[in-house]
Amino acid sequence: MNSQPAKSKTDSGKEFLDSFLNSPDRLQILEQAVASARTGIVITDPLLPDNPIVYANQAFIDLSGYPMEEILGKNCRFLQGADRDQPELKVLRSALNEGAPFVATLRNYKKNGALFWNELSISPVRDARGKVINYIGVQNDVTSRLEAERRVSEFYSMVSHELRTPMSSIRASLGLIDDGSAGELPPPAMRLIRIGLQNAERLLKLVDDILDMKKIESGKLRLNTTLVDPKQLITDAINSLSTQAASAHVQLETNADGQKQFLADPHRISQVLVNLVSNAIKFSPADTTISVKVKQEDSMMRFSVTDQGPGIDAGDFEKVFVKFQQLDSSDTRSQTGSGLGLAISKTIVELHGGNIGVESKKGSGSTFWFMLPMVPNE
Ligand SMILES: Cc1cc2nc3c(=O)[nH]c(=O)nc-3n(C[C@H](O)[C@H](O)[C@H](O)COP(=O)(O)O)c2cc1C
Repeated sequence: MNSQPAKSKTDSGKEFLDSFLNSPDRLQILEQAVASARTGIVITDPLLPDNPIVYANQAFIDLSGYPMEEILGKNCRFLQGADRDQPELKVLRSALNEGAPFVATLRNYKKNGALFWNELSISPVRDARGKVINYIGVQNDVTSRLEAERRVSEFYSMVSHELRTPMSSIRASLGLIDDGSAGELPPPAMRLIRIGLQNAERLLKLVDDILDMKKIESGKLRLNTTLVDPKQLITDAINSLSTQAASAHVQLETNADGQKQFLADPHRISQVLVNLVSNAIKFSPADTTISVKVKQEDSMMRFSVTDQGPGIDAGDFEKVFVKFQQLDSSDTRSQTGSGLGLAISKTIVELHGGNIGVESKKGSGSTFWFMLPMVPNE
């Protein structure tokens, strides 16, 4: 019997690496890997005057359109043409002065004069004494990716103007008819108006969720923090959902009295509360109660929304906060929604430096909670 302990996966992985590194063909293989890479790779020599290119692979030739003889011996700045006023170049110069790595996207020009966006990363190579003896530059033409991103971004602003603006006005008009401002209508007509109003609201919420998700993904969701009153936030959320709760025959209750004010973005925290309470209504059976609570725990403010709905499996706790993930809700009455609300809520809470979670047992309701620091992170 073999008494040796079994080798872990990492040990055996390291054996493969060691045997490759000790192979006499190692250098030739690595050289071929660099030569056949699909991204541009150049090596420069800063010990020679003007840090010239001493090696370029085929992908760099393809990317730039210059033949090898017009590349070797030149400083890479020839790719900039006359476009020398790019702020990134200042950062690049000081990175090279300090022998530090550098990553940025620069405007560069091919031999035929065509502009391309060059996603460049530069890393220094040092000798045993720490002196920089070479730089390695890795170049990627990201022009078509940036162009696609620009088109997506144009699409989002089109959605926001061409869809959101008319939808808001449809909702406002139906709202005015619904509250009687336009005179009395027969009950069957009022029922139809209400259906129209609810669907206009659903559509607007979907558009807003998509636009928020877009902001989150491009890192543009910013908080406007100010002193907020937790009771006010909860009362506003509950009031805005009273019609939805009434038509689902669900009671909303709260205990928000006497809590301290704290720093947060009121609009965004209301959005989280509305989202959690509105979800709770969707998943609550008729004649049950949803309880919305807030209390201070040390330096955090803890909000919670507890329903008496079908509950969630422990294995799904993480999944509910991932975008476009809707759990199989065949046992629930309604499952409308974009699948974005909880993912957006998680981001909003985390931007405040807080955290969000759920406690639940299949069959006995759920509590969605979030904790916010009384003073958010900078
Ligand atoms: C390894 C390496 C690769 C470089 N690759 C590029 C490149 O692809 N495009 C570019 O515009 N500049 C590139 N540069 C930057 C220029 O060579 C130069 O350092 C930069 O324009 C700033 O210096 P300057 O003000 O003397 O031109 C690279 C620099 C190094 C060290």
